[in-house]
Amino acid sequence: MINSKCNDTELIQKAIKAMENSYSPYSHFSVGAAIMTESGNIYTGCNVENSSYGATICAERTAALKAISEGERKIEHIAIVSSSGDFTFPCGICRQFLSEFMPSEGRIILSDKNNNIKIYTLGELLPEAFMLNTKD
Ligand code: THU
Repeated sequence: MINSKCNDTELIQKAIKAMENSYSPYSHFSVGAAIMTESGNIYTGCNVENSSYGATICAERTAALKAISEGERKIEHIAIVSSSGDFTFPCGICRQFLSEFMPSEGRIILSDKNNNIKIYTLGELLPEAFMLNTKD
C-alpha cells in the first residue's frame, strides 16, 4: 500500500537539482534522483563515478542509501532525470536494490527535458523480483 501523497512535479524538480552535484568525469552522463519515503520525507542523490568504473554508484542508490541510513525503511516514490534530456530508466542493479525497500506498487517517475512524464510501478520494471526466502 502506498500511503503518502506525492507531488510528482516537486519530486522531479528535486531530482533535477540533485543532478547538479553529479560526479561523472568519465561518462559525462549526469543523473539525479529524488525519493519520497512512507514518512513523506524526501532524499536526493546523484551518480558518483570512480576511476575503477565498477565502483561507480548510481543516483538512485545514492538517494536510497541516504534514506535508509537515516532510518527510513519504505520507499514509495522515486523520480529520475538525466543530462541526456531523455527518459532515463533505472539500471538493473538499482531496480533490484530498490526492490529491497520499495513495494511492487512503488512509483518510478521519469521526466525528459520537455517535462514529459512517464510513470511505472517497480513491479512493471522488475517483475518477479528476487527475494531471499528466509523462512525455515
Ligand atoms: N547511472 C545512474 O546514475 N543511474 C542509472 O540508472 C543508470 C546509470 C549512471 C552511472 C554512471 O555514472 C552513468 O550513469 C553512466 O552509466
